[in-house]
Amino acid sequence: MPPAIVVDGLHKRYKRTVALDGLSFEVPAGALTGFLGPNGAGKTTTFRSLLGLTRPDAGRMEVLGMKVGPDTAAIVKRLGAVVEEPGLVKGLNGRDNLRVAALTLGRGAERINETLEFVGLTDAADRRVDGYSKGMKQRLALGAALLGDPDLLFLDEPLDGLDPAGQAQIKLKLRELAQQGKTVVVSSHNLSDVETLADHVIVINRGKLVSSGSLDALLGRSGFRVVVEPLADAGRILTAAGLNNTVMDGALIVEAEEGSLISRALAGGGLFPSELVRQSARLEHVFLELTGGS
Ligand SMILES: Nc1ncnc2c1ncn2[C@@H]1O[C@H](COP(=O)(O)OP(=O)(O)O)[C@@H](O)[C@H]1O
Ligand SMILES: [Mg+2]
Repeated sequence: MPPAIVVDGLHKRYKRTVALDGLSFEVPAGALTGFLGPNGAGKTTTFRSLLGLTRPDAGRMEVLGMKVGPDTAAIVKRLGAVVEEPGLVKGLNGRDNLRVAALTLGRGAERINETLEFVGLTDAADRRVDGYSKGMKQRLALGAALLGDPDLLFLDEPLDGLDPAGQAQIKLKLRELAQQGKTVVVSSHNLSDVETLADHVIVINRGKLVSSGSLDALLGRSGFRVVVEPLADAGRILTAAGLNNTVMDGALIVEAEEGSLISRALAGGGLFPSELVRQSARLEHVFLELTGGS
């Protein structure tokens, strides 16, 4: 399956702040991807760029096989998003908020009841939203994003500020959506959110990619550190050979029982590593390093 999102060399500068500094990554289709980075890393700017809400200074973006820019209108029809504060009308009840969202979207009104059911708000649907807990508001915003039955969902820090019960409810829903075959991208500045939720992880800092790959590979289960050029070709060869791999610090971390499986696959593609050593790359280690231990 082609990737759901391709971001290549994205740059964005706000006056004196460089928000995105050559950011490149891919998001696999049909998985739950955690988009992890400390505050200010560029997560929201990336989402806004992918949604066509902000225009990057340079770089290429593809979403669901379409180019952001020329095809943005077609893309927006196939995605749902909650970026920054959910845009809810506090004086209206939950159901009327979804009616407003369906009107804005131009469709989805027939899905309001099932959507309320899915996000667990059927009983609260006739209550005003200003009496909702933060978790209920977040679930209602998720419902609004789901009205158009999107293939791709962007959620910016959906777990932020929720109590453990509220977080668990959202996580359950996000997993269900991924199981339905939707591509779900969830940003967070919190390592444990991502560690307990995502199949795939992208770590960014200061507008650059730090690391990306399957959660298992990032957690370093039977991993090898492989230095080989060109890295991207090596990654593709190893993936085709069924070996999960992730880019980290100019090398690949590859999941395999034996190092010989890696060298054989690479040799088959005409590549020979200059270094191949056993290494575990704990996500925690990666994250502490990139956030300077804070
Ligand atoms: N509209 C804006 N004007 C000026 N600077 C901004 C704006 N939006 C974001 N930034 C800056 O860009 C950087 C990345 O921000 P952001 O994408 O919001 O990061 P994150 O969502 O990972 O916390 C930060 O330094 C932030 O202060
Ligand atoms: Mg943000």
